[in-house]
Amino acid sequence: MDLDALRREYVFGSLDERDLNADPFRQFDTWFGNAVDAGIELADVMTVATASQAGVPSARIVVLRGVDERGFVFYTDYRSAKSRDLDENPSAALVFYWRELGRQVRISGAVQRVSEEESARYFRSRPLESRLAALASSQSEVISNRKVLEDRFEALKAEHPTGDVPYPDNWGGYRVSPHEFEFWHGRELRLHDRIRYRRGVDGDWVIERLSP
Ligand SMILES: Cc1cc2nc3c(=O)[nH]c(=O)nc-3n(C[C@H](O)[C@H](O)[C@H](O)COP(=O)(O)O)c2cc1C
Repeated sequence: MDLDALRREYVFGSLDERDLNADPFRQFDTWFGNAVDAGIELADVMTVATASQAGVPSARIVVLRGVDERGFVFYTDYRSAKSRDLDENPSAALVFYWRELGRQVRISGAVQRVSEEESARYFRSRPLESRLAALASSQSEVISNRKVLEDRFEALKAEHPTGDVPYPDNWGGYRVSPHEFEFWHGRELRLHDRIRYRRGVDGDWVIERLSP
């Protein structure tokens, strides 16, 4: 494939200090709202990067399931590879990319499990198939073939005919509490706008423009 042919310009407006909210969570809400209003598919998916204690990085996409002043929440299997990383090294970086708006948001911070009560509540709100799939799969484990998984799913379905699937305590949420945000807006001539919010010594958010 000729990747040179894919060069593109990012001309979709700009990011000006005068338009920024002093609070990066509110700035995120505005941009996330813009992405949803623009009808961007999968506006709520983000890349989550983790690293083992030895510093080996890995990244994958998950769905954003909640955001408030405490942080950004996603749900997963606590036995997965990402969870093993987070057990050893409770830090993560998140990336959102809204191509149609020429915008990227990067977030990094400390990670904690959400309360069991919050995870259980969210689990119960999921469609039956999703709950059964969470039970059937031990995420990131090697399995000999697909049939093993499908048989486990069918057996669980038969075991819970009323749909009353118990909440598995190996499954739940993580909350990333940001200490840094970066809002990136693509501009002409590769002179992109980048605005970083970082926690200052007094806990206030310090806003700085970065070179693209
Ligand atoms: C669009 C999309 C959404 C996904 N959402 C989730 C999710 O919310 N939670 C999750 O655990 N995995 C989700 N996945 C699967 C992950 O990318 C990944 O395969 C899985 O979590 C195992 O990752 P790990 O082995 O690094 O732990 C999603 C994948 C895609 C492509």
